[in-house]
Amino acid sequence: MAVPKKINIAIDGYSACGKSTLAQALARHLKYKYIDSGAMYRAVTLYAIRHKITGDLPASLLPHLDHIQIDCVWSESGNKIYLNGEDVTAAIRMPEIQDLVSPVSTIPQVRRFLSRQQKQMAIHKGVVMDGRDIGTVVLPDAELKIFMTADLEIRTERRFKELLLKGLNLDKEVIKQNLLERDHIDSTRSDSPLKKAPEARVLDNSFLNEKQQFELALSWVEETLAGKPNFEN
Ligand code: DC
Repeated sequence: MAVPKKINIAIDGYSACGKSTLAQALARHLKYKYIDSGAMYRAVTLYAIRHKITGDLPASLLPHLDHIQIDCVWSESGNKIYLNGEDVTAAIRMPEIQDLVSPVSTIPQVRRFLSRQQKQMAIHKGVVMDGRDIGTVVLPDAELKIFMTADLEIRTERRFKELLLKGLNLDKEVIKQNLLERDHIDSTRSDSPLKKAPEARVLDNSFLNEKQQFELALSWVEETLAGKPNFEN
């Protein structure tokens, strides 16, 4: 029996566009591994906060990079992320991380440190990885690249509800400003900014529900597996 061909799928896009929801659904369906690259930037940020070395970035953080071990463990029930052996899956979602993660992710040495590990994780194919520079820098050879976007008001509402489920009732305007600021920092930084790879397919899910966006993305996966080249849409 022929061994099924596995591909890598790179999903990039703005904050709170539902990248991880789509990536996890695809990974479950295809029996691929899901890698949340943003969680790795969050884990480095958590390390910096805990070690009180956020005052003089990047100089304060650089000597610590050799002491940061990040492990991502994927199971169908969800991803777990470990920082030096400790499960920090919940801790990296706290609002104080949100405020600092974009500045931390502008540091070129942090990007190199993490993208080296991310490339390694995808070496055997069969990976769905989401982030900001996956299709452009981390996995430029990914067979399928998806660039996700959604209306800012809709993203704000989604993030508000997500935080509410975690017991955090934040002001919507504060959430919106944080999203805008992160989008700005992520897309204007000089090192590997968020941008659409020329061959990426654009998925605007402003008016799509989870099932619809999954079905659209899955049709792209099937086309890719059937050998149809990706094209700009
Ligand atoms: O996907 P997320 O919101 O958890 O990502 C957190 C931050 O990490 C985001 O503001 C930008 C940064 N990031 C990045 O610079 N490159 C990636 N590949 C993934 C995330």
